[in-house]
Amino acid sequence: MSKILYISSEAFPLIKTGGLADVAGSLPAALLKQSQDVKLLLPAYPEVLKKIKKKKILAKTRYYNQDVNIIESCLPGSHVIVLLVDCPVAFNRPGGPYTDHHGREWDDNALRFAVLCYAAVDIALNKLALSWYPDVVHCNDWQSGLVPALLSLSSKRPATIFTIHNLAYQGVFNKQTFTDLKLPKKLWHPDGLEFYEQLSFIKGGLAYADKITAVSPNYAKEILQPEYGYGLSGLLKHRRKDLSGILNGINKKHWNPGTDHYLKQKYNRHSLNKKSLNKTALQQELSLQVNASIPLIGMVSRLVEQKGLEFILDSLGKILSLPVQFVILGTGESHYELQLSNWASQHPDKLHVTIGYDEALAHRIEAASDMYLMPSIFEPCGLNQLYSLRYGTLPIVTAVGGLADTVNDANQKNIAYGTANGFVLKNKNSSALLAAIKRALVMYKKPEQWRQLQHNAMRGDFSWQTSAEHYIRLYQQAIKTV
Ligand code: ADP
Ligand code: GLC
Repeated sequence: MSKILYISSEAFPLIKTGGLADVAGSLPAALLKQSQDVKLLLPAYPEVLKKIKKKKILAKTRYYNQDVNIIESCLPGSHVIVLLVDCPVAFNRPGGPYTDHHGREWDDNALRFAVLCYAAVDIALNKLALSWYPDVVHCNDWQSGLVPALLSLSSKRPATIFTIHNLAYQGVFNKQTFTDLKLPKKLWHPDGLEFYEQLSFIKGGLAYADKITAVSPNYAKEILQPEYGYGLSGLLKHRRKDLSGILNGINKKHWNPGTDHYLKQKYNRHSLNKKSLNKTALQQELSLQVNASIPLIGMVSRLVEQKGLEFILDSLGKILSLPVQFVILGTGESHYELQLSNWASQHPDKLHVTIGYDEALAHRIEAASDMYLMPSIFEPCGLNQLYSLRYGTLPIVTAVGGLADTVNDANQKNIAYGTANGFVLKNKNSSALLAAIKRALVMYKKPEQWRQLQHNAMRGDFSWQTSAEHYIRLYQQAIKTV
């Protein structure tokens, strides 16, 4: 049994902007189930404080002349203990965890997440007298990147793991920020926190963590190439022997078409004929033509370049000329929101776009759709294709990152082997996207084959238990190295 401090900047159901929240809301619980002693460290955003029930102040401290409380509570729906870093100046404000209501990054993000990191370090080094300190500190993404760097300066310290959920987000700030944050001067060098004379939070993880993981085996390989490495492939190559890929799992309780209370009609592998009732209900809800035989394509996504928005917009006219309906739910860059909304107002009978964040609608789209579109230009793991597979909604994806690890194209060979569960674009461009959609539509007209693909998809096992076992083995290896 190891004692693990798991640090994240978001965790479902307390606070979520994307897949990191799903992971941080599930993996600690899976670790707990395997008898690990795990605590989740999160910033005390207002939304989080509102959602937690019992809270207890465990420690009081100060960072950057600000009072900070460490509050203990429980992750709703689990037995996972949550430690909240309550620093009102940093975290108690309206808006999202990283941006304001208009999507603008908070200009004190470096300070905000430095506070999170210093709290983690003090817990890790048993400086806050919590009567608990970890054997392993598991950091996630740039927001916790300073932790391995700061801990590397202590001779007696826990092991550190850094998980890359998305290398495109690095937490890079100007050099003055390094001084303002009063970070130890020893850490300022090209093999440390310095990144072309700027301060890089993510380098704190990549350069100093004992072990590094990426959220899928394929992404762990891809990031060694400049195309996917965002300027860090050289460093990652250097750390190659400590880098591995562990595929994310899914929360099978929350994403289960057999028990999903958001759905009009629950269904499972043996009652797939009921799935289409969700489609007609959604068509009705979104004022599309109500007809169960029209193929429905769904998409729930951050609206950013990563998710293939350029390919989609380039081919949208042609997609909408096909006999399909297309439903999109998302928020993100305003130019994408605007363009998609314009298309929807010109084609109200075929395309429905909801701009916003809506957990319930996300579930209804997964259940209602026949196909799920995810033509990402890179995708560290991707969770929506996994939810789609579980809902018998066949993903149409690019062969990148975790998408390539989890979706098998419906080609002759995979069909014959019984492994085909979706459609993989032959290239990363809009004509390949259109070709894949057309292939899916041809297959959709063959109900028996389609049903077989749905069965293959729903059979996939993406449980957290398997991934948790991998992490536990890695923790043990890392503990041995310190
Ligand atoms: P990423 O983390 O890159 O955004 P993932 O596929 O790993 O991509 O995870 C995205 C998660 O966020 C999924 O749980 C998805 O359902 C959810 N999500 C994204 N956008 C929305 C939205 N507008 N409304 C509801 N859920 C959303
Ligand atoms: C990131 C990635 C996504 C991944 C998620 C959870 O947001 O973009 O691919 O699934 O993290 O690991």
